[in-house]
Amino acid sequence: MRVIIKQESVDNIKAIYEINRLGFGQDNEAKLVDLLRNSNAFVPELSLVAFVDDQLVGHILFSKITIVDDHQNEFENLGLAPMAVKPDYQKQGIGGLLIKNGLEKARELNYKSVIVLGHEHYYPRFGFAPASRWNIKAPFDVPSEVFMAIELVTDGLKGISGTVKYPKEFEGV
Ligand SMILES: CC(C)(COP(=O)(O)OP(=O)(O)OC[C@H]1O[C@@H](n2cnc3c(N)ncnc32)[C@H](O)[C@@H]1OP(=O)(O)O)[C@@H](O)C(=O)NCCC(=O)NCCS
Repeated sequence: MRVIIKQESVDNIKAIYEINRLGFGQDNEAKLVDLLRNSNAFVPELSLVAFVDDQLVGHILFSKITIVDDHQNEFENLGLAPMAVKPDYQKQGIGGLLIKNGLEKARELNYKSVIVLGHEHYYPRFGFAPASRWNIKAPFDVPSEVFMAIELVTDGLKGISGTVKYPKEFEGV
């Protein structure tokens, strides 16, 4: 199976909505993607799609978030959310390719780290570790092992700690 990963284009917007709706079994995440696309948090190069034989089968989005420390200093960062692969194409490595390509692109764009809320056995495969290691907390109550971060460069999170602030578009998801 040949999988091609590329930046989303306007022609993909409807299919991306559908992939997220199918992947999550609800519209919330699909709507979130549309809201983020029209927000200041959007990084066009970091909305990636996966194609198999001209069919869009997966999508991943990284958008801008901030980490706020105890002194109200704000550090710009990236959050991975959401990602979805069409149900009949799951467990074939497409999600992994989207993550790896996205992390590489983020590094090229000079981002130093990424935060994710997700499955504790999946994201560590790509180098994520509990964000508590850097004293980075979620803005809501979640088990510490599902709230993770990755440094894209050595010491990418050195000196950065605090609570993650998601863009307002995440409210209600
Ligand atoms: C998460 C998702 C994008 C992974 O895509 P994929 O193409 O299947 O990923 P890969 O083939 O690279 O890896 C599959 C592995 O991830 C595991 N996995 C990843 N996220 C998981 C989750 N939320 N729950 C359970 N298992 C998960 C699978 O069990 C599988 O494990 P295995 O390799 O041991 O069998 C896909 O499962 C999906 O669209 N899920 C629904 C939407 C969702 O939960 N998104 C993540 C939260 S933002």
